[in-house]
Amino acid sequence: MRFGARNAVAPRDGSATRGEQSTMVQVRDVGHRFPGTALLYEHVSFDVAAGQLLAVTGPSGSGKSTLLSLIAGWDKPTLGTVEVPRGARICWVFQNPYGPCYRTVLDIASFPIIARNVPRALAQEQAAGLLDDFGLAAKVDSRFCDLSGGEAQRLMLVRAICCAPDLLLVDEPTAQLDMRSARQVGESLSLLASRGMAVIVATHDPFVWKACDAVVDLERFMPLADAEGGAHAVA
Ligand SMILES: Nc1ncnc2c1ncn2[C@@H]1O[C@H](COP(=O)(O)OP(=O)(O)OP(=O)(O)O)[C@@H](O)[C@H]1O
Ligand SMILES: [Mg+2]
Repeated sequence: MRFGARNAVAPRDGSATRGEQSTMVQVRDVGHRFPGTALLYEHVSFDVAAGQLLAVTGPSGSGKSTLLSLIAGWDKPTLGTVEVPRGARICWVFQNPYGPCYRTVLDIASFPIIARNVPRALAQEQAAGLLDDFGLAAKVDSRFCDLSGGEAQRLMLVRAICCAPDLLLVDEPTAQLDMRSARQVGESLSLLASRGMAVIVATHDPFVWKACDAVVDLERFMPLADAEGGAHAVA
């Protein structure tokens, strides 16, 4: 299924051709609440096309991770619609890095490529190139358990990219990183988008915002307080 480019986020280079890319995510008038709670947000609408990088921001608890789960199809929005083309490959990099303790960085990164029947040597070469892009060249032979939090998070990004997704969802990738590494992650995500992937990143980080085509601030979509000072709840 393909969608028109209506309301697509602006192409980073302003070119007409980028605007013609297929829409990977279409969010329309979305609102969401968990049972027994008030609406987190309402009327959230945006499109993300292949080749675009979008940041979702907002205070802690505003529903950034929840929005990723709506896009991934794990949860259904209370209001509105989320559409992703049928068959699109989605990878999600979670907030907390996780991996097998005694496996090496290169093993973990190259596995998704090997699983697509690419010869091991070629898969490792491709994975090593990406590890280099993410500042992990010196760590290819390190065990997962020996990585710092930031290194482990960057490995999770590389691993997701090695799955060759059409849509990459990334939750708070810089929470454990210093400013220099955060800027690197922003630039790397931008590079991935420029190679044709649609990327949505939930982040508080201004260094990542700077690399993005557009930023959706969920605070702008919080329901207005009612006369009693509470948030509107939906029956
Ligand atoms: N399955 C669930 N059931 C009930 N409430 C939930 C569920 N998942 C999340 N919430 C609540 O929804 C709100 C939004 O959570 P979410 O994790 O999406 O926020 P966030 O913006 O990602 O926050 P942070 O910046 O801290 O990661 C929180 O109040 C959270 O407790
Ligand atoms: Mg979150």
